[in-house]
Order: sequence, then C-alpha cells, then structure tokens
Amino acid sequence: MKGFSVDMEKVTALCKRRGFIFQSSEIYGGLASAWDYGPLGAELKRHIKNAWWKSVVQERDDMVGLDASILMHPTVWKASGHTDSFTDLVVDCKKCKKRFRPDQIGKKCPQCGGTEFTSPRTFNLMLRTPLGAVEDKSNEVYLRPETAQGIFVNFANVLDTTHRRLPFGIAQIGKSFRNEVTPGNFTFRTREFEQMEIEYFTYPKEAPKYYEQWIEERFQWYIDLGIRKENLRRRPHAKDELAHYAAACTDIEYHFPFSTQGGSASGGGWSELEGIANRTDFDLKQHSKFSGKDLKYKDNLTQEEFFPYIIEPSGGVDRALLAFLVDAYDEEEVEGKLRVVLRFSKELAPIKVAILPLLKKNDGIVTLAKKLKEDLQRDFACTYDDTAAIGKLYRRQDEIGTFYCVTVDVQSLEDKQVTVRERDSMKQERVAVDRLQDYLKEKFAL
Ligand code: GAP
Repeated sequence: MKGFSVDMEKVTALCKRRGFIFQSSEIYGGLASAWDYGPLGAELKRHIKNAWWKSVVQERDDMVGLDASILMHPTVWKASGHTDSFTDLVVDCKKCKKRFRPDQIGKKCPQCGGTEFTSPRTFNLMLRTPLGAVEDKSNEVYLRPETAQGIFVNFANVLDTTHRRLPFGIAQIGKSFRNEVTPGNFTFRTREFEQMEIEYFTYPKEAPKYYEQWIEERFQWYIDLGIRKENLRRRPHAKDELAHYAAACTDIEYHFPFSTQGGSASGGGWSELEGIANRTDFDLKQHSKFSGKDLKYKDNLTQEEFFPYIIEPSGGVDRALLAFLVDAYDEEEVEGKLRVVLRFSKELAPIKVAILPLLKKNDGIVTLAKKLKEDLQRDFACTYDDTAAIGKLYRRQDEIGTFYCVTVDVQSLEDKQVTVRERDSMKQERVAVDRLQDYLKEKFAL
C-alpha cells in the first residue's frame, strides 16, 4: 500500500507512455491545456461515466437522463446570468503580456518577474462562435459553460413527457467550455471539459434534506469506486463564497499532489472535484421570466403552483478521472525491483483481463490463448500480449491496472488449466479452462 506521496510527473509520464492521455495536436507542437484520451484513457473515462449513470439514473426510481445540445439560444445565458457575470478579473503583465487573475500575481509577474500591470478589467469566460454562414454579432452563440442550463430549459418537456412528480431529478453528461484565464495542472483545469450534472427538483421545504442526502451519496460514490477516504473531504462553503442564488453549497474535495487556484486555502492540495448546491428556485424563475413560458410546477393534491427548488450535484469527468488515476497510482519493491501498479477498482480498470501466451511460437498455446480471448471478451475488456517475457508482461499489465492476467503455458495443453494471477496480491491460481469464464464472472460479481 501507498507509503509515499504521488509524484505528478510520474503520473503524467505514465499517462503518455501507456496511452491514457496525450497532448492535443501533439505533432503540431500541441495546444496548451487541451488533452486527448488515448485507448486506455478512453476506456477509463467511459467506465467513470457509465458508473455515474448507473448510480444516479439506472439504479434510481426518481431520476431520468438527458442529452442536450451544446449550442443554445443566446437568451439562455442572459437568463442564467452568464452573459453579465460569468467573468474573471484579469490583468496583463506589461513586460511579457501574459494574462493573470489579480489574486495570482502578488507584486511580481509569475512568468517574467515584471512589476507593471494593466488595471484589472472583467473578462467573460464563455467561448463564442458565429453560427451559420454570416459572421456577425447577431449570429453569435456560446459554447455552453455548463450543462446545467440544458436541463433547466427542458424542465417542462421532461415533466410533460415522463409525468414525473416531485421530487425527481434529471442527469446529464456532456462537454462544457470555459475560456479559463489560467488553465493548468494537467487535466485539472482545461478550457474544454466534460461535466456530469444532476438537477434535482424538490418541494422548497424539502430542499435542505435532499441537499444533505446528495452530499452523502456523491461522497460515497467516489469511495465506492476506489478513492481512499483520507484523500476525500466535504467542504461547506462560507456564506460569502456562495453564488447569489445559492442557499448552500458543499464541495467534495480531493487531496491532489499539486495545489490549485480555486482550491481552498488551507490543506495544500485540497481541490474541488464536485460541488453540491442548493440553487433555490432561481433558475426556473429566471427562465420563466426570460422565455415568457410558465415553468411552475402544479401540485396534484393541493393544486398549488410554485417554482421547485433545485439541488445540483455537479462534477467534472476529467477531474474525477485525474483523481482516480492519482489515487490508484502505487509503487512497491518486489524482489528488489520497483513495481508500479494502478490499483483501480474492478469497475474502473480499463482492461479487466490480459491473456498471455507463455510461448508465442507454440501453435497449441497460441490457439488456446486466442480462443480464450475470443470467449472472454464478450463479458470483459480483454487484451492479448505476447511481445515480451512473462515477467515483463505482468509488469506492463500492473502498470495499467489490469485486474487479472491469464497465462497459457505448455502444461495448459495437457491439464487444460491456466494460471490466473491477481494484480494486487500477485497470487497465482490454476483454474480449469472450462471454468475460467465463470471463475472470472464470480470475481467481477457479474
Ligand atoms: N452547474 C454548476 C457548475 O458548473 P462548477 O463548480 O463551475 O459548477 C462543476 O463546475 C464541476 O465541473 C467542477 O467541480 C469541476 O469538476 C468541473 N469543472 C469546472 N470547470 C472546469 C475546468 N475548467 N476544467 C475541468 N473541469 C472543470
């Protein structure tokens, strides 16, 4: 188990070396703070999103899903307040021209040491693009800075089509864009990122109860998927930190190996993974006002009409992935050599089973190994590797978090058994070929 602090450089090097995360447009010199998920990263990301969806939609009676458009009517952002106030203050260093938030500079430019800056001015964080063939202001739309608004504007559609009664929620996963002044810390803060957001509609007086429930459920989700408890905490916002429409907000924070702006001041690397907010009835009221459509909810029993309160658990897929990666990273010494292991949970491990033929030129072994892969890959993400000696193949799989390695050797052809090696304990067990599928299903509790 971990007895060292994780070195981010090692994690980022592993991500590149093994195909989790690459720099965007790398062959052209890269685009700052934009990242591509490679074969293993894409699997990991998909597992995170699937686990989230399963937990907040599939396994609940009170939730439905949505997949709204990134591009929305510009008035949406007037109503939400983003056009006027989704801004950061910025200053430019007069010497190197780099742009910072005033709270980041102290007296000197962090880039060049310069001491003269322009006066602070506001900078809207929404990314703009002209829509259609004519490039003028009237055709300008925004790339959404949060997925939430797609949910609010579909509140009546979902209510009418699903006949839901309060309390119920709508979940959505999708890309969001923010022209962050200072992106950085690998994938922690980027200008294009993915969010997993829930808008949970409640009777106003029940909002505090569901607010508390969602904090606990979302906290537990990270723990259940493998994050160590000591690296996760809840941080209630102070009153003066709250957005003007929020009655309460609590962040779920992870203790990253780096410290970030936007994280809390104390505790070094504690930074936000997800925020759970009580947004009151602000959003539906605003969209009613700006659209002219009545978004009130009518209570069946009392006939009372009112705007529901909204509890919003809002997390980032990329940030969650980074936390799961960092938390899974482990090093240990085995027989005098360093073993790097990503101790992903069974649910998140990008590859569940590796099939390793001990001799790649032995037809019997190869045929059996390929047949096993063909059978197993219907139930598990599998990989086949015969490009090195067995010790090296095991280390390669450890390094990407593969849960089980199945080795086919000469003996397998005679006794119809293979060796199954478990990643964390490195324990090996002989398992009959015709029981292998069930054996693994039991292990993965499928
Ligand atoms: N609808 C509420 C909302 O968007 P937020 O705190 O601004 O709230 C929610 O964002 C989550 O989205 C954050 O907790 C974080 O995980 C993720 N996120 C926000 N900005 C991000 C960025 N620039 N890069 C990566 N993830 C980001």
